[in-house]
Amino acid sequence: MDNSMLTIALAKGRLGDKAVKILEKSGYSCDVLKTDSRQLILTDESQKLRFILSKPVDVPTYVSYGTADIGVVGKDTVLEAGLDLYEVLDLNYGQCRLAVCGPVTEQERWQHITNKRIATKYPNVTRQFFSETRQESVEIIKLNGSIELAPLVGLADLIVDIVESGRTLKENNLTVFETIAEISARMVVNRVSMKMKADRITPMISAIRTVLKESE
Ligand code: PRP
Repeated sequence: MDNSMLTIALAKGRLGDKAVKILEKSGYSCDVLKTDSRQLILTDESQKLRFILSKPVDVPTYVSYGTADIGVVGKDTVLEAGLDLYEVLDLNYGQCRLAVCGPVTEQERWQHITNKRIATKYPNVTRQFFSETRQESVEIIKLNGSIELAPLVGLADLIVDIVESGRTLKENNLTVFETIAEISARMVVNRVSMKMKADRITPMISAIRTVLKESE
């Protein structure tokens, strides 16, 4: 592996697209990404930058193993991964929250449900939240999407999910009971890279921080 090359893991899709815009405003060309190609590794030799394109949920893994020096990913994914990453910047986009939600009709009662069954894409965060804040062990049902369906069909009492506008909850007679964490896109760095490639990474963080301040 070329040590002077800086590798950035980006999520395919909206999350990654916004990261590209921020990088460009910060003075880093991302032209190599602007092709129709389906290549998953794109290298810009002149800037000594390499981009790897992964599923959002896998970005923390690439960074924690050091196969990427830097990654951009949602705080929800960082929390669920539970890996030892250095979170250096809040990129101030993709804002939403991770919350315990359930049927509006259960609003007064939900805390008293015994042996709660909770459907979620975030089993680790859910288990930890209930055990640390409530000393409560819960039954977790892992789903991969449309989590709001679970309480409607009796699969679960509650859900732990992302709430953005709140529209999905509202249109399914569900509501937020408790917020677990405020979420936004974060820049994470491998701990070894942060030391070994500080001469590349520190100026990048500073440039991005300046761009973020200007757009506040
Ligand atoms: C997310 C999340 C909620 C919805 C919240 O789902 O899981 O279902 O968005 O948005 P809202 O508060 O603005 O209605 P996503 O669209 O990522 O799809 P998924 O259900 O497959 O996870």
